[in-house]
Amino acid sequence: VTGVRFQLHDTPEALAEVVAARVLEAARRAIAARGRFVLVAAGGRTPLQVYARLARARLDGSRWLVLHGDERCLPVDDPARNSHAIAAAWLDPVALPPNNHLPIPAELGAETAARRYAELIAPLLPFDLVLLGMGEDGHTASLFPGHPMPEDEALTMAVHHAPKPPADRVSLTPRALAAGRETLVLVTGAGKREALARWRDGAGLPVARVAEAAGAEVLVDAAAWG
Ligand code: 6PG
Repeated sequence: VTGVRFQLHDTPEALAEVVAARVLEAARRAIAARGRFVLVAAGGRTPLQVYARLARARLDGSRWLVLHGDERCLPVDDPARNSHAIAAAWLDPVALPPNNHLPIPAELGAETAARRYAELIAPLLPFDLVLLGMGEDGHTASLFPGHPMPEDEALTMAVHHAPKPPADRVSLTPRALAAGRETLVLVTGAGKREALARWRDGAGLPVARVAEAAGAEVLVDAAAWG
């Protein structure tokens, strides 16, 4: 498996501690170098422990821009939205003012959201740090195995119909997801063991394609490592 480094951590808590420290360090470096920190946050449950730690870090979020790697086409306040989960776990309006949290406007419908977000993120590339998760089928963001990837390499956003509900999703493309100065993939829990083993055996999973293009570090807990 080229271009990817796997790191083993004993527990999800230890892994989240390391990731939170890496996010804060990346933010410090980016703000010192460029005056702002552009983070692409992952959806799903795995990173929520990281966001909770960041909420306790009393960070100065006024120089942060928090983007999302993907979003489900649901109303803004639907608990199944990635933006909702992240806001609940982390985005205290004092720590991170609302205009520094830039969710994908998926409530407008997939095509409109993809077009608007592509315009929004264009001047923000390359991102400073991209956080990704991995589904039990090896998907990442809303890029699912067996589902066509956008052909045009220039595209940064794509609309997907996921095999698991909610079907309509908007996702950064592999190119955009791999456009981070740093990329961390978080994998915890025994449920991920099979997909991780397939990845390490060279299966061409969507998470593998993005992680290898990005030269990502993959942080894995003992339960997922097997
Ligand atoms: C999503 C996420 C998705 C997530 C994986 C893993 O919108 O569902 O972006 O790609 O990272 O499904 O989810 P868990 O961390 O909950 O296992």
